[in-house]
Amino acid sequence: MERFVSMRRENRDRFHEETLDPEDWESMRELGHRMLNDMIEYMKNVRERPVWQHASNQVKSHFNRPLPIDPQPPKQIYEEFVKYVLPYPLGNIHPRFWGWALGTGTVFGAFAELLAGSMNTNTGGGGHHSAVHVEKQVIDWIKEMLKFPASASGVLTSGCSAANLIGLTVARNTKAGIDLRRKGLREMPHKMTLYASQEIHSSIQKAVEIIGLGSEALHLVPVNDDFQIDLQELKATISRDRKEGATPFCVVGAAGTINTGSIDDLNGLTEICQKESLWLHVDGAFGAWAALDPFARKKVSGIERADSLALDLHKWMYMPYEIGCVLVQNEEYHRKAFSLTPKYLAHGEGGRGITGNDLPWFSDYDFLLSRRFRALKAWMSLKLHGSRKYGRLIQQNIEQAHYLAEQVNTQPELELSAPVPLNIVCFRYVPPDMDEAALNELNKKIVVELHEQGATVISGTIIKDKYVLRAANVNHRSRREDFDILLREVISTGKKLTIAHE
Ligand SMILES: Cc1ncc(COP(=O)(O)O)c(C=O)c1O
Repeated sequence: MERFVSMRRENRDRFHEETLDPEDWESMRELGHRMLNDMIEYMKNVRERPVWQHASNQVKSHFNRPLPIDPQPPKQIYEEFVKYVLPYPLGNIHPRFWGWALGTGTVFGAFAELLAGSMNTNTGGGGHHSAVHVEKQVIDWIKEMLKFPASASGVLTSGCSAANLIGLTVARNTKAGIDLRRKGLREMPHKMTLYASQEIHSSIQKAVEIIGLGSEALHLVPVNDDFQIDLQELKATISRDRKEGATPFCVVGAAGTINTGSIDDLNGLTEICQKESLWLHVDGAFGAWAALDPFARKKVSGIERADSLALDLHKWMYMPYEIGCVLVQNEEYHRKAFSLTPKYLAHGEGGRGITGNDLPWFSDYDFLLSRRFRALKAWMSLKLHGSRKYGRLIQQNIEQAHYLAEQVNTQPELELSAPVPLNIVCFRYVPPDMDEAALNELNKKIVVELHEQGATVISGTIIKDKYVLRAANVNHRSRREDFDILLREVISTGKKLTIAHE
């Protein structure tokens, strides 16, 4: 060993070889400890800070500098981060952030990211290194939590958009009736169509466009009063399309719509799909996890029968970005859609060496080849908290959403805009004697004012042609008192804006 060290030193002196490793490991260690300490304080004290604050022009212009050609001291770089980056986050780790459907992350999850980043392993391939076995373990646990059969395949993704894209690619290829990978869409003898409710997430349309079907192939079906896909309308649309010569191939069900959190009748959709020989893909980005709450579980009954299921762990499983997952009932269909093995990536030929065949390669189930070790944070988080605690937190978020809805109902200036089946509350500030156009403008302004004030963050959406305020609760740090603050802020901001308008 010593011989190698002195040889290395000699060579370095002779050839002036460089590396990106620190020259001074001890001062780097000291800086690393400081970073870790600072980040623990940052997460611990999140409640004491505003949810969001506007980055000044001076801050923004800091990121308009010339490319660094020469090295800068690590301590100085970290200090710049502390001054210009850290104080201006999107705000989603704060207990009073309920905008869109953004997750909060955890302390242990952040540690896991450091560990995974240090190992910097590539999980695209290899059957004998630890990271791929961790990923397999995590996928097995996800299947168990969602009652998916053990024989299903799965792969961790950057999020639910990627998971939807993979699920719909498998659906399209399996149902195309030709060897689509070889022939391409140009040789499709028929026009493939698919179906989802008008409330489906935009990532489904994006996926349909990416896989080359065109957004016109996606037929959006009206919803009932509970914002679930109308099954009679769905059947009628499929039948009409068939008569007009189209080839329906897939229905996309929603387990938790982005607007209201409504869940389609998944058993009803399964039956229609079986009768019509259609693929059922379910977008369960956050709502799939209702399966962990003993009281909400029945709402997602049937999710385990989907041909493919897309979901996130960075939303309602509270893990740090990015982590999603797609499960496919039939492993062979999944592999056939993505597996491609050039000679330089040959694998699965014997039990020895990195490429050995202990496990199939995850790149055989994904369009990505190189993949980060995102399974580690899921494995460590599930072990630390246990699935039962996740179930309790999901239940807590649903109860908090019901509490918020009840409080909305007690306030004469507020009105509930949609049922609250899960964790999303849509409501409006409605002062007397204001027409619909003015109410829309006022509520839009309330959302922006709340952001600027920084005490609470919600987002807005359109429900039945009305602009509404929307709080989506996937936050393990929120307490009931936080929702009281939200309503106080909405009412006082609404009053201020109404007076200013008069
Ligand atoms: C219902 C639903 N589907 C899909 C997505 C897309 O997920 P991601 O942001 O993880 O790509 C979201 C994001 O909010 C969502 O709410």
